[in-house]
Amino acid sequence: MPVPAPRLSERLHAAGRQRITDGLWRSPPRVDYLDATHALVGGRRLTVFCHNDYLGLAHAPELATARLAAAARWGSGSTASAMVCGYSRAHAELEAALAEWTGRDRALLFATGYMANVGVLQTLLRGGDVCLQDKLNHASLLDGARLSGAMLKRYPHGDAEAAARQLALHPDVPALLATDGVFSMDGDIAPLADLSRLATSRRALLLVDDAHGLGVLGPAGAGTAAAAGLDQVQVPLLMGTLGKAVGTAGAFVAGPQELIEDLAQFARSHIYSTAPPPALAETTLAAVQLARTDHGRREHLDALIRHFRQAAAQLSLPLMPSQTPIQPLLVGDAGLACRISAQLAEAGFLVTAIRPPTVPAGQARLRVTLSAAHSMDQLDRLLDALERLFHQSPDSTLADGSATMP
Ligand SMILES: Cc1ncc(COP(=O)(O)O)c(C=O)c1O
Repeated sequence: MPVPAPRLSERLHAAGRQRITDGLWRSPPRVDYLDATHALVGGRRLTVFCHNDYLGLAHAPELATARLAAAARWGSGSTASAMVCGYSRAHAELEAALAEWTGRDRALLFATGYMANVGVLQTLLRGGDVCLQDKLNHASLLDGARLSGAMLKRYPHGDAEAAARQLALHPDVPALLATDGVFSMDGDIAPLADLSRLATSRRALLLVDDAHGLGVLGPAGAGTAAAAGLDQVQVPLLMGTLGKAVGTAGAFVAGPQELIEDLAQFARSHIYSTAPPPALAETTLAAVQLARTDHGRREHLDALIRHFRQAAAQLSLPLMPSQTPIQPLLVGDAGLACRISAQLAEAGFLVTAIRPPTVPAGQARLRVTLSAAHSMDQLDRLLDALERLFHQSPDSTLADGSATMP
């Protein structure tokens, strides 16, 4: 009997080979040691300017102490999904704190932001509904809509008028409008007030993914919706992640009591998945308290952002229009972005190149991110290195491909 050809694995392998040919095969830099601003990669100690720890909480000593105490109390794992016996007092207290912080009635925890977005969209939408999304929304929002079977329509980035025109084409269809609050690869902020007005006028449900705004923007870091003065009537579904500015891991969806209770009943990625460890929930509660009250971290972060933009503009670096800690430098060519990233590593900095398919073809970039843990001195040294690299001639090391990733 001939063995059937493994067609699916062959197809995947062919896609992989194509990726190599296109120069887009990715390997994660393996980190052997990590602290608030440094990583040891390939034997080199690099200053990290590409993570999402915007408030510098991931290595805050207070939280390491809280984690140890929480692990001593609760152990390492939650042992089950929430509905079985994985939901603890620690989870309940964290949900209450997140709801209070964001000014919502109720918050529901998920293990990750990806699972939160997929769970919410799959639960709310059905075939025949329409889901309108910004062109640059995070993959998890797009995947959630695709899995739901709803019609997915993508409007040009940040263009609320285009969104209105697209919604008008589907007048009698249940609709959900979803947007990132802060766009993860560009760093700019969605026009939430306009989108909220549009959603209200069309009785569409508005979902804001505030993975990169929570902790950073708005009063006490309550996020992008709070910065725009929008409450839970205007933004009924607010998703936030805990692995970025909050410095731990996990995610939540917050909004009106009834809506969140219903999601808790039906969101499959919440119900059929092991609950996050209670020790993590307790640590995250301490992190939320720090994120809310330690305004000095946000002030320092703002100063870093202003300084970076001012200096980068003077150096004619290819800045993008962002006022947040995400400060990408648009390079265009994926190979060139990789070479600059490799040269930065030679100079002592970890700034990963972001390439297609994460960003559109021709828009590869260095996604520089800033953290309250960075000092001005570290930032100045990065700027010096960027100046040297961006202003050397195209015939020099950047162009010859000789540099390798760490
Ligand atoms: C905008 C956005 N939404 C959702 C996610 C997913 O969150 P998580 O990493 O917790 O799965 C991310 C990043 O990872 C993100 O950037």
